[in-house]
Amino acid sequence: MMLDGRFEERSDDPHVLARLSLLAGDDVLPEIPVSALEVDTVLTVADVFDPLKEQLDTYGLAHVQFREPPSRDQFRQLGEQLGTLMSETDPTVAPFVEQAVILNLISRFGHGADPTLQPFSSDYLTLHSECSSRPLNDQPRYITLLCLEPGDNPDRAQTVVVPMEAVAAQLPEPILQILMETRYRHCINGPMLARPTTNGLAFSFRDFRAAALDWTTEGKASASEVGAALRLLLHSMYRRDLMSGVCWRRGLMVVIDNCRFFHGRTSGPTMPGNQTRHLIRLRIL
Ligand SMILES: [Fe+2]
Repeated sequence: MMLDGRFEERSDDPHVLARLSLLAGDDVLPEIPVSALEVDTVLTVADVFDPLKEQLDTYGLAHVQFREPPSRDQFRQLGEQLGTLMSETDPTVAPFVEQAVILNLISRFGHGADPTLQPFSSDYLTLHSECSSRPLNDQPRYITLLCLEPGDNPDRAQTVVVPMEAVAAQLPEPILQILMETRYRHCINGPMLARPTTNGLAFSFRDFRAAALDWTTEGKASASEVGAALRLLLHSMYRRDLMSGVCWRRGLMVVIDNCRFFHGRTSGPTMPGNQTRHLIRLRIL
């Protein structure tokens, strides 16, 4: 049995207000719950890799403060230790790509930019797992971000993370069941929205904001039950007590396990400052 449907948020859904207050408000979110490894200078990649990997395996996040940012080559080599680097093939981001795999994230567009250029805008980014609409083999396991320049206002445009385990823990079993039987309709080979892993439930899911989410469910749930499950999932994601953020500083590197944390970003300053924020990113399979 397969059933297709469409989910669209309503302006009075509880997550809509929570999202706005968390991501577009003035608050500075609490620091991510993993203390930073302090690294004086990078001698070899191996020096940093072992403690970093231990943090990542334990918490699903790694947090490293380098006194000076590693070079792009060292950054890439560190990523290569974690897995296979994904090439940045989207033509719209081509001007920001170096060495085929390093994406320069520079806030240079105002609010309301073209969605493909969203990572470069100063608008907030809704919570998501990376590449949620691709087949599982094409969804990165890790996202690595390194700050080269925090910009004038490091309290804004915070990268935010929410643990999937804590999101799942709030959802009743029948709701989890629906999410494990439902996937994006247009991604035929894609995973279900939730799936069991050795680290608990992993989600492949993006908050589409006002855009429609077309789904297919393979279980017995009705269209209204799927809609209710998606609403509850979104509500569980935007909880103040689950969200933490990164105040970017030069040389700060954060690695996110895409199977254990949702991520997003608070809105940036509406007026461009003298210094724009500059992060570099790797996505690792
Ligand atoms: Fe992302």
